[in-house]
Amino acid sequence: MEQTFALIKPRAFTNHLTGPILNMINSSGFRISAIKGVWLSQREARKLYAVHQERSFFNDLVKYMTSGPIVVMILEKENAIEDLRALMGKTDPQEAESGTIRRLYGHDKQQNAIHGSDSPKNAEKESSLFFSRLERF
Ligand code: RTP
Ligand code: MG
Repeated sequence: MEQTFALIKPRAFTNHLTGPILNMINSSGFRISAIKGVWLSQREARKLYAVHQERSFFNDLVKYMTSGPIVVMILEKENAIEDLRALMGKTDPQEAESGTIRRLYGHDKQQNAIHGSDSPKNAEKESSLFFSRLERF
């Protein structure tokens, strides 16, 4: 079984899309190993998106990700990382394939409903920012 880290972004959470998104994740065969709601501090958001710190959209992204509560989770499935990325769809909801989470629930390229890790290394790094070993079931 592979694990990945996922996060429901502020606009989707505030617009009550957590239920529908979790439903899609569930129907696609993922098991939720850990889940909780958090409100990121500036420091945590900068750490989570550190790989993008040189990008033009970094400050804006940090501002957005700290603008409201989010849901963080660890998901488990065979091929979880790749399968979740496929279920999410492309970064820009307008380019995302139909039936994907971002196409259905994303607002724009930044406020695109969900984040999912892009590698095993990042999945573990991101998971450990939010969950201790004892919080994973
Ligand atoms: P994520 O990391 O959130 O799962 O998304 P991703 O891999 O599809 O996209 P990535 O390139 O890693 O970008 C991370 C997040 O930054 C915001 N973004 N804004 N304004 C822009 O041009 C822009 N590009 C990216 C999005 O919120 C994206 O998910
Ligand atoms: Mg990414």
